[in-house]
Amino acid sequence: MCGIFGIITDNEQVLGTTLVDAARRLAYRGYDSVGCATLTRDGTIDLRKDVGRLDDVSARLDLPAMRGSRGIAQLRWATFGAPSYANAQPHLDSDGDMVGAHNGNVVNNVQLREMFIREGLVVRGTNDGETCVHAVERHFDRNGGRMLEAIRAAYADLEGDYAFVITHRDDHRLFAIKKGSGLVAGIGDGFACVSSDLPSILPLTRRIVRIYDGEIVVLTPHALELYRVEDGAPIHREAEWYDGPVEVAEKEGYPHFMLKEIHQQPTVARELLHLLDRSPHADRFLEAIAACGERPVYLVGCGTSYHACLLGAYYFGQIAGRIAVPILGPQFIEQCGTAVGPDDVGVFVSQSGETKDILNAVKVMRRQGGRVLGVFNVIGSSLMHHSDVYLPLACGYEISVPATKTFVNQAVLFLYLAYRLAGRDVRPLHALPDLLARTLGESEPYARNVAAYLQHWNALNYLGYGVTHAIALEAALKLKEVTYTHCEGMLSSEFKHGPLSVVHDGYPVLFITAPGDEAMMINHVNEVTTRGGHAIAIAAEHPALRANVHDYVPVPVSERDLAPIALTIPAQLIAYHLSVARGTDPDFPRNLSKTLTVD
Ligand code: AGP
Repeated sequence: MCGIFGIITDNEQVLGTTLVDAARRLAYRGYDSVGCATLTRDGTIDLRKDVGRLDDVSARLDLPAMRGSRGIAQLRWATFGAPSYANAQPHLDSDGDMVGAHNGNVVNNVQLREMFIREGLVVRGTNDGETCVHAVERHFDRNGGRMLEAIRAAYADLEGDYAFVITHRDDHRLFAIKKGSGLVAGIGDGFACVSSDLPSILPLTRRIVRIYDGEIVVLTPHALELYRVEDGAPIHREAEWYDGPVEVAEKEGYPHFMLKEIHQQPTVARELLHLLDRSPHADRFLEAIAACGERPVYLVGCGTSYHACLLGAYYFGQIAGRIAVPILGPQFIEQCGTAVGPDDVGVFVSQSGETKDILNAVKVMRRQGGRVLGVFNVIGSSLMHHSDVYLPLACGYEISVPATKTFVNQAVLFLYLAYRLAGRDVRPLHALPDLLARTLGESEPYARNVAAYLQHWNALNYLGYGVTHAIALEAALKLKEVTYTHCEGMLSSEFKHGPLSVVHDGYPVLFITAPGDEAMMINHVNEVTTRGGHAIAIAAEHPALRANVHDYVPVPVSERDLAPIALTIPAQLIAYHLSVARGTDPDFPRNLSKTLTVD
């Protein structure tokens, strides 16, 4: 949900390429508009911004040519204010002396803007990033030009969760503040930088300083200073050396990140299984679940992560005999918020580890005294910091907005936990990476054919039964996300309870079927085909099922527990190929963001 990057260097230079490179690594956070600002040593501000994708805006405005010793870049995912030039970030203050950009949401944006306008400030748009700049400007003008004090005072005015970076033409420092949104700083040889996320910093430096809520970081080319917003007290925190992989956002020959990430699934599944086998965290995680005895375990997620929770609940129930309640983050608060207590355990699942709906639910669990077990992909994320025990998904950065490899590893992780809870030998799970690799190879041409059939349809259904229910929901979400086609996923036995009325000649219905469920699925297939529907099965070879459907996407034969994970792959490929056929960008679908730090 928006990405910001700021850098300060010890000499004036071409900063545009650094800004554009950093922005490219943050592109997953927002792509409604792009902007860069640079400041030369004499205080001249060059601001270039516009609506559109990074590459287009960069070429149109020649962003790489921008020069200066300070620079700010911003990618926007619109919440407050439509995507427009005026709302694109960075923003100037009234006189054009200050420039800044934010990510997150200022919830009293409207009231503050009205106040600024009444007071005579020059408000150009409706975006809350501009509100952050004016909030600082207002106090700066009153306090005789002290930036740090002005930012502290602005913090008290700005309600919501956000982070912003700001600088003044005459103050040769860069300032950033964190309240609820991601922010991390880095220091290198003759420069310092700050960003919403690590990938944009790591190619420049591995000396990292973490910033926490309620802190201001002041950057000069040779130092980073931290201050507590509350009382202005300096904070001493050593830079840490980050020795994880520098994930370069490259497609490695694939036309899109989504396809690359689908193809990485066998590898990341293998790496996760190795990690779980050796991780003491896995033991602690399981002990925490075991400690809640007969009480249900809450599996809390949103979007794709929620679908993994749904599958996890099946695994916990069927394999380990443990009742697990899969629940969406906001529903957890409303439904269980006052009912849970110190004996309860919640597994909070989030690829980004920054999803506000999940962090809100975590807060409630904490308030009630329950235990917070975190599952996330982004190391250093807020969810990691707020978890009693956590397990990483070990997928590497997922750039494409639609989650693919992180879903598969969430499913692998739940399957692994269920096996361990049941006291079962986990070695058979090591067949999974190979199964995924074979599924990729075998299902690809069939997935393309199905995508060709779907090309002319603007509505369709995915149905799953039992353990593939969650996969049907995920398949439908993926297809919707990247093709903008209405697609509903549901339990196949539910279809007859109303939705069946949508079926007419040729209407596509895809049946995702696990081994052992074919007979039941044949009933549900016939409910559709007798009404003219076009039935497509995604399943391991099964002659009776094949005889009842129009099209078949075969997957390799596998153990029933492993099958749902493998069955995810053809659905991802169908969504991907349909997206390409329709000419949409699967990596950056319209209206979406990889990290949703808003309510
Ligand atoms: C997945 O393809 C979606 N982009 C979205 O549903 C996502 O899963 C959801 O926003 C939750 O994100 P998280 O896993 O980072 O918490």
